[in-house]
Amino acid sequence: MTILTNNSSQRLALRGDLLDFTAAPAWGELEPGGAVRFQPDHWLLIDETGRIAGTQAEVPDASWQQIDHSGHLILPGFIDTHVHCPQLDVIASYGAELLDWLNTYTFPAECRYADPAVAQLGAERFLDALLAHGTTAAVVFATVHKVSAEALFEAAEARGMRLITGKVLMDRNAPAALLDPDVASAERDCVDLISRWHGRGRLSYAVTPRFAPTSSPAQLAMAGALCRADASLYMQTHVAENRAEVAWVSELFPDARSYLDVYAREGLLHPRAVLAHGVWLDDADRAAIAASGAQIAFSPSSNLFLGSGLFDWVAAAQAGVAVSVASDVGGGTSLSMQRNLLDGYKVQALAGQRMSAWAGLYAATRGAAAALGLAGEMGHFGVGTLADVCVWDWALGPVAKARAEVVRGLHERVFAWMGLSDERNLHSAYVAGVPKFSRSSS
Ligand code: GUN
Ligand code: ZN
Repeated sequence: MTILTNNSSQRLALRGDLLDFTAAPAWGELEPGGAVRFQPDHWLLIDETGRIAGTQAEVPDASWQQIDHSGHLILPGFIDTHVHCPQLDVIASYGAELLDWLNTYTFPAECRYADPAVAQLGAERFLDALLAHGTTAAVVFATVHKVSAEALFEAAEARGMRLITGKVLMDRNAPAALLDPDVASAERDCVDLISRWHGRGRLSYAVTPRFAPTSSPAQLAMAGALCRADASLYMQTHVAENRAEVAWVSELFPDARSYLDVYAREGLLHPRAVLAHGVWLDDADRAAIAASGAQIAFSPSSNLFLGSGLFDWVAAAQAGVAVSVASDVGGGTSLSMQRNLLDGYKVQALAGQRMSAWAGLYAATRGAAAALGLAGEMGHFGVGTLADVCVWDWALGPVAKARAEVVRGLHERVFAWMGLSDERNLHSAYVAGVPKFSRSSS
């Protein structure tokens, strides 16, 4: 594999089977109706500013550099709405539920990010890994250390990627090395990072209280005040992931109606809030999330691996909650969005529901962009959006190839791709029209 560092200001035309969404597909709808835009053997035109200029069946004129990916699937780059940079080091750690897993594996790994060299190398390795999995934009947890967020912003800027991140806020119930010394110093770190990075190019700041148990009420109030002071800030946290966690939160915050309410009453529930998990929510919580315009980052691989529970996507959708899909690495066991989508399908199947390829792929592309308020920037092939684009092999190896030969109809074809492919199928990735990843022939 090759991570490419060259920049290009040439007009590009990519040929292949283009698939994106013009709107949200209806749950359970398999016919590729209005929302699904499949343009087989078309050209995707990318102008010299890295924006999509259109699609067409005809061969473009010689002013466009033509790159022939015919026979390949071309999708908008995936958007992973919840993933932890420092946790690549503890992916696939054996034998623990959430609270043990944090203490045994995660917190020790995050301690190492106090070192600027570790933070920088970790950020670069992490973003290159995202690109190598076809993920061109992400909402990311750094660590409590200011330097870890700085390193992520710098590395994302160098790659031209859309990145939303922030330093983690924690001032209790974690190792001393991972705690903010006090509320004022945590606030200063956030304010410094916001003034330096928020709104710079494709970078945005997310106020990041890790989860209710590791922030004092005073720290949560400070986080809420930051959000109230600037509505363009994002907020990311975990909510109602695991039953022991939910019970602990009700002991720590006896006055709150629910776990979600701990955040809501501090002003942390708003249209730019990304709530990871939401497995153990009730109807009132779902109604509150829908009314706020926040989204849930469904993290199926993590929910299965940590034994956290089965997220009810249909209940969320019926309540009007926006749902995106996330790897939650290192709780999740793969950065591959296809693997996470297949896990998402299995989780829904256990509840007697079926997640179509359209519902899954929409949630991982345009749906995530829309929920982040970024559908004007990315997530589809609409004219004027930045060309975050991935080229995939339809089928690799004898099993997937044999399956592809007998599929009936477009949904079956795309579902088989989603179920049988992973990062090995990635041929190339473009960020804002610039090639950033290309699989080497070896
Ligand atoms: N809850 C609090 N911190 C974490 C984390 O790092 N990963 C997951 N999955 N849940 C959390
Ligand atoms: Zn997480």
